Amino acid sequence: MYGMAHRALRQMMLDRLGPSAWAKIERETNTGPADLISLCVYDDSKTIALISASAAHLGMAVEDALRVFGRYWVRFAELSSFGPIMDFTGQDLVTFINNLDRMHRSVVLAMPDARVPSFELLSETRQRLLVRYRSDRSGLEMFVIGLLEGVMDRMGETGTVDVAARFENGPGTVIDFAILLDRT
Ligand code: HEM
Repeated sequence: MYGMAHRALRQMMLDRLGPSAWAKIERETNTGPADLISLCVYDDSKTIALISASAAHLGMAVEDALRVFGRYWVRFAELSSFGPIMDFTGQDLVTFINNLDRMHRSVVLAMPDARVPSFELLSETRQRLLVRYRSDRSGLEMFVIGLLEGVMDRMGETGTVDVAARFENGPGTVIDFAILLDRT
């Protein structure tokens, strides 16, 4: 993944546990400044090693850390140079989800090697959204749940995100997520 993800994780860990914990994570994973360049691409194994080490320091399972990181990512991206892109993507949940692929396509203009996922709103009622996620990666289910929770936070919405269905798709993933909103 792009180094931007590593920088986001570093910022999250600095916010949560401070600089000495992050210094330990860097030592444990053999990470240095060269692994934290926003516009450089690193093997996913590097990203996973950093998340696993962070989870251990947080006293969390890796899956829980992925979820917390997904939620954090939305706030991190808002404050980054991509903030205005997020604003254009939509000011409500449905518009935002419908425009996510367009948003990622504009990210790819700046980061041409990004392997971005695809999101499709399959159905919509006032209290339930069904969103299909397609990716050529696997293992990021909890990250996506955290991201969708982060988008809900951004829109001032509360509710839950659950997996409604999983489909086999060769080396990649197709998952339907149900967002249940606390709306009356
Ligand atoms: C301005 C905000 C955002 C930016 C700049 C951004 C950018 C990126 C970038 C650069 C990647 C890495 C791809 C790679 O290195 O191969 C990525 C991956 C990903 N993005 Fe976004 N993203 C943003 C918001 C979101 C949101 C709001 C969601 C979901 C609700 C999302 C879902 C994902 C997922 C799940 C991945 C992992 C790749 C995969 O599943 O295949 N992103 N994004």
